[in-house]
Amino acid sequence: MVGSVLMQRMRDEKDFDLFEPVFFSTSNAGGAAPSWAAGAGPLQDAHDIDALRKLPIILTAQGGDYTSAVYPKLRAAGWTGLWIDAASTLRMKDDAIIVLDPVNRPVIDAALQRGVRDFIGGNCTVSCMLMGLAGLFKADMVEWMTSMTYQAASGGGARHMRELLIQFGILNQAVSAQLADPASAILDIDRGVLQAQQNPGLPRENFGVPLGGSLIPWIDKDLGDGMSREEWKGGAETNKILGRGPGFGTDPVPVDGLCVRIGAMRCHSQALTIKLRRDIPLDEINEAVRTGTEWARLVPNDRDSSMQALTPVAVTGTLDIPVGRLRKMSMGPQYLSAFTVGDQLLWGAAEPLRRMLRIALG
Ligand code: HSE
Repeated sequence: MVGSVLMQRMRDEKDFDLFEPVFFSTSNAGGAAPSWAAGAGPLQDAHDIDALRKLPIILTAQGGDYTSAVYPKLRAAGWTGLWIDAASTLRMKDDAIIVLDPVNRPVIDAALQRGVRDFIGGNCTVSCMLMGLAGLFKADMVEWMTSMTYQAASGGGARHMRELLIQFGILNQAVSAQLADPASAILDIDRGVLQAQQNPGLPRENFGVPLGGSLIPWIDKDLGDGMSREEWKGGAETNKILGRGPGFGTDPVPVDGLCVRIGAMRCHSQALTIKLRRDIPLDEINEAVRTGTEWARLVPNDRDSSMQALTPVAVTGTLDIPVGRLRKMSMGPQYLSAFTVGDQLLWGAAEPLRRMLRIALG
């Protein structure tokens, strides 16, 4: 799915005009390359190390298992090209850079100059959050931040999106007759929905539990200390992207929170509580957010603007990262609330990779 979005974005931006692509497949070697890619030979075997090592740059959205299987063999075979992917496998390696160029272009440029060869897209939630809040971090306004996430089904993959919709369909069917009758009792409908959700026959192979009409307060692996791996990434990757933390000779900005899966399709949303380093006027904060990246969109903190512009439905399929609900909280003038939404398949996955490829091509 990320690969499809990536290829579409690369076509939209005419990236393929800049280099000669060679296409690989893990499942269809020998098949035809995309019909629009004039001159590209047949699909090659994505596990063929000899074929891969002839290339100066490899860009893959295949996922962590592929990276784990192929990357070490390529490097062991002496390949010195640039590896660009979106998997977490290599992300936290000391000599890998997490790419999000509107936020950390200087880090990327410095790494290219000193010969770094692994450029990895960040966790989707982290990338979307930083694309919205970059202005606050660039101005060093943030002392610490909590991030309470509302993550879409697409974060799990294409099958998860289908499963969510199948669940919604089954729930609707379970009570459709009562729904059609305005005189039916809502508590009967509610009971019918719950029965369908609790029915062991409800498809749940991907999420493990019902998600339609419910939520799942855990994403990714259990680290065994009460934290999920998704929550750990929030702090670790944010600081690595910003070039902060012990490895960089600076204090990290503590970023922590709870990651929750909800029944949205492909936009991750986050409710943020930010402790500012000092009491900064709200108009200064708004301006920092608005100018932080070209894609950050300041949403006025009123009911109608928030309902219209600050939702997954409003954002899906766009590169905009709206940031709203900005206000000082009752805990004191250094405490700021914010809410942001981002398409996790665009800034959360495909976009940083295709932009890194362009940077590498010069
Ligand atoms: N881990 C994310 C999620 C997806 O499950 O939503 C990609 O980073």
